[in-house]
Amino acid sequence: PSPSSLSVLGQSILTDDYTNVTPAILSKLPIRLWEKHGHPLCTLRSLVESHFSDFASLSAPSPLVTPAQNFDVLSFPPDHPGRARSDSYYLNRSLMLRTHASTHQVESFAKEHDRWLLTADVYRRDEIDASHYPVFHQMEGGRVFGTDTTSLKILEEENRALEEVLERSPIHIVDAPHYSPTNPVQAGHSADAAALVSRSLKLSLNGLMLKLFGGASNKDEPLQVRWIEAEFPFTSPSFEVEVFFRGKWLEILGSGVVLQSTLDRANVPGKIGWAFGLGLERIAMILFSIPDIRLFWTSDERFHSQFSPNAISTFVPYSKYPAASRDISFWLGAGTHDNDVYDVVRDVVGDVAEDVVVLDRFTHPKTGRRSATFRITYRSMERSLVGSEVSAMQGRVRDTLIGRLGVEMR
Ligand code: PHE
Repeated sequence: PSPSSLSVLGQSILTDDYTNVTPAILSKLPIRLWEKHGHPLCTLRSLVESHFSDFASLSAPSPLVTPAQNFDVLSFPPDHPGRARSDSYYLNRSLMLRTHASTHQVESFAKEHDRWLLTADVYRRDEIDASHYPVFHQMEGGRVFGTDTTSLKILEEENRALEEVLERSPIHIVDAPHYSPTNPVQAGHSADAAALVSRSLKLSLNGLMLKLFGGASNKDEPLQVRWIEAEFPFTSPSFEVEVFFRGKWLEILGSGVVLQSTLDRANVPGKIGWAFGLGLERIAMILFSIPDIRLFWTSDERFHSQFSPNAISTFVPYSKYPAASRDISFWLGAGTHDNDVYDVVRDVVGDVAEDVVVLDRFTHPKTGRRSATFRITYRSMERSLVGSEVSAMQGRVRDTLIGRLGVEMR
């Protein structure tokens, strides 16, 4: 039987039919990796903060938020898939774990800083592999400007100065239009003001890309950055940034001109602004050559001893221990989602689960029942696992799938 209350960050919270957080997830809340000196995520955060040195650095509020904070105040439509219990963690119907750092836009703009940065742990239900983990970290930045002629003139001059610096730097930018029919200026904005704000956003972030990824670039081989029209419920126009690094185009961040309704809710009248959000793990894995996202959570000194505070260095993987895979086939219950299976695996075996893939799916032609075969790959990052241990873990996964999800083995 599930408990009727959960203890979360010292708070007692009643569960209900919506509850889907697991002990494995709740155990991560107090850890705050971005504050651990010398940890790659902390180093990367400092690097971003040093680029935005005149921005107020806001400390992350609790990850427990209401669905209204996470979605509604940012104008997410009522049927947005991110709201589903299969995609997000709920403590109960009225409390969830934030899925992005944008959740705090309204309260951050409301603090009357005209520029701010905020780092937060965010939570999303997802698959299990080397680049997905249900807890990760984002940095959100926001800035507002006055809309009077004088303020816009000052912004124009600032933009021009930043542009001159970038023109002399080893960076090649493929721009997107500041706005377009498919990436429109908001109803209440003048096209000129929106273009100035888009340009300011792009200039600030191009500078950041150069700081993070430009180490080896020069006039002959400049850093390549491209801006792509995007879509977010809480910005318009919206953009994504991609960087060409070690032979691949990498998605780095989302951004855009903040919806005026967000600024209205923050009670900052007469302003226009931009915001961006970037994922720290993604960038850190590239910059530090960290091959598996689970490593951020290890306590192994062979990982931590390789990093020193405030320096980017290349991680040299220590010897990998052998992996072992086991398959499991079962009939899923009617409402069972793959993410429910992944959460059981994470809960039962923790970070020893390296990868889970679906090998095969089948729907019975008469009964409509669905079955699937999952292949679970086990590998400890700390030691060799023996076969009997792996079989025992697989047994506990099977029992928990039956007990918690009501699946039926095939
Ligand atoms: N919150 C968005 C995400 O998680 C990123 C974003 C932040 C986009 C701010 C626009 C503005 O993908």
